[in-house]
Amino acid sequence: MAIRGTFFSGLTLLFIGFLGFVCIPAEAATKKYQFDVQVKNVSRLCHAKPIVTVNGRFPGPTIFVKEGDRVQINVTNHAQYNMSIHWHGLKQYRNGWADGPAYITQCPVQTGSNYVYDFNVTGQRGTLWWHAHILWLRATVYGAIVILPKQGVPFPFPQPNREQTILLGEWWNTDVEEVVKEGTNLGVPPNMSDAHTINGKPGPLFPCSEKYTFAMEVELGKTYLLRIINAALNDELFFAIAGHNMTVVEIDAVYTKPFTTQALLIAPGQTTNVLVQANQVPNRYFMAARPFIDVPIPIDNRTATAILQYKGIPNTILPKLPILPASNDSSFVMSYNKKLRSLNTPTYPANVPLKVDRKLFYTIGLGRNDCPTCVNGTRLTASLNNISFVMPQIGLLQAHYFNTKGVFRTDFPDKPPTPFNYTGAPLTANLGTIQGTRLSKIAFNSTVELVLQDTSLLTVESHPFHLHGYNFFVVGTGIGNFDPAKDPAKYNLVDPPERNTVGVPTGGWTAIRFLADNPGVWFLHCHLELHTGWGLKTAFVVEDGPGKDQTILPPPKDLPQC
Ligand code: C2O
Repeated sequence: MAIRGTFFSGLTLLFIGFLGFVCIPAEAATKKYQFDVQVKNVSRLCHAKPIVTVNGRFPGPTIFVKEGDRVQINVTNHAQYNMSIHWHGLKQYRNGWADGPAYITQCPVQTGSNYVYDFNVTGQRGTLWWHAHILWLRATVYGAIVILPKQGVPFPFPQPNREQTILLGEWWNTDVEEVVKEGTNLGVPPNMSDAHTINGKPGPLFPCSEKYTFAMEVELGKTYLLRIINAALNDELFFAIAGHNMTVVEIDAVYTKPFTTQALLIAPGQTTNVLVQANQVPNRYFMAARPFIDVPIPIDNRTATAILQYKGIPNTILPKLPILPASNDSSFVMSYNKKLRSLNTPTYPANVPLKVDRKLFYTIGLGRNDCPTCVNGTRLTASLNNISFVMPQIGLLQAHYFNTKGVFRTDFPDKPPTPFNYTGAPLTANLGTIQGTRLSKIAFNSTVELVLQDTSLLTVESHPFHLHGYNFFVVGTGIGNFDPAKDPAKYNLVDPPERNTVGVPTGGWTAIRFLADNPGVWFLHCHLELHTGWGLKTAFVVEDGPGKDQTILPPPKDLPQC
């Protein structure tokens, strides 16, 4: 593959522009980025604190690429913590080495070291994002990835006049790693966040935060594409703009059938692109984000705000707040999710697997383990099919590729060891949850159906699940226990949403399907950092295919060692 710098392609474009030619097909370019992981003093609420950043920025820099480009990001770690970065939603075909989750596809980049994440952006366009994938460092180490369509390929919706990334996040007033350590030692959930943020800023509803407000200027009559990303650690969020409707056109870098809504729901890990028309009385309008939580679990339920400001309107005018769904409005969530449909056109087909080679059924369980030194004598834990995942000491992908024995087992059960009434009365019983680094082996090119079933073990709760290395189709979802006799008949196998992160509803289930055509070791986990840390995760080992181009690529020379 030819490596050409962005400088050269920039000049070429300029030259083409001068001559007025537009018909020369643009070749894929190599985009290079330098990511310096460094600590910087940043202030958002009442005082400054040191946070881990990329290039001293919060949120971090946006990666701009075109479909077909190659990307090389040199991550140099100057911080005191080990680091690894995940390019959330990038498929990384045969190239798990660039995927990023620490101890799953790589050993972390240690302090003073660097690693070049080198990957191609193939067959994807839209909004994705990147984040630290070790400890809770993604609280401050995250940024947007914007993949533009290939040169000359339009969006399948009206061309916006301008676009804007909107990153929703969570802010802690103290060092988030200290917060987590304290929670783990005491055996309780770590302190909840102190603020929600929009583009790193909480907005004026928080104390001492008046000057930390993101504002976006708009002009009457123009259309804007907002690329919204939920980078929060633990909170599903509602988002709305006062006085303005939004037209959803894409989720997780996949085009959708457009629909208009006043508010949207976005789970940690997910992205949503919307078109917004500046067609209201010129004024200042609040955008707002606030959590959705439909169980009585205490969370940071405060509202982050930013401003949509019409050109020429003075800053002195008080903005209006949008109406967000009630915090526990699960019926809004159900009906919103139902509207999400793949575009499914000849250019952007929904290739839903119609026959299934491998059926998997995983229960999601929370629980308590004994912990004599903890405040309550117990520590919280989480499991899939009664297995709480134990992080290995070296990267699982290396262990798989080099056939290192004793690192993991491939006997993760395809169904729960003992079926029970998953969503009946609250269950505190310990169902014999065991710990282990157990994975599921998947044959190359097989079609997989995975039903994720929430349970009332300890408490029901909604869980956004993310699969690395793949997009999947969300073919069905429901409340209560999944019924294998009746529910599949109700699946949408025509235009289901295609995405990389999906919510399993509180006390319900979600069925996804995908074609296992990407060999490697691919992490599957709840994207609530709280639950991931408690063990709500596992991984698929997708075997190599028979073809020369169907095997895992050799590891890069600079792959970090543990
Ligand atoms: Cu965005 Cu494994 O995560």
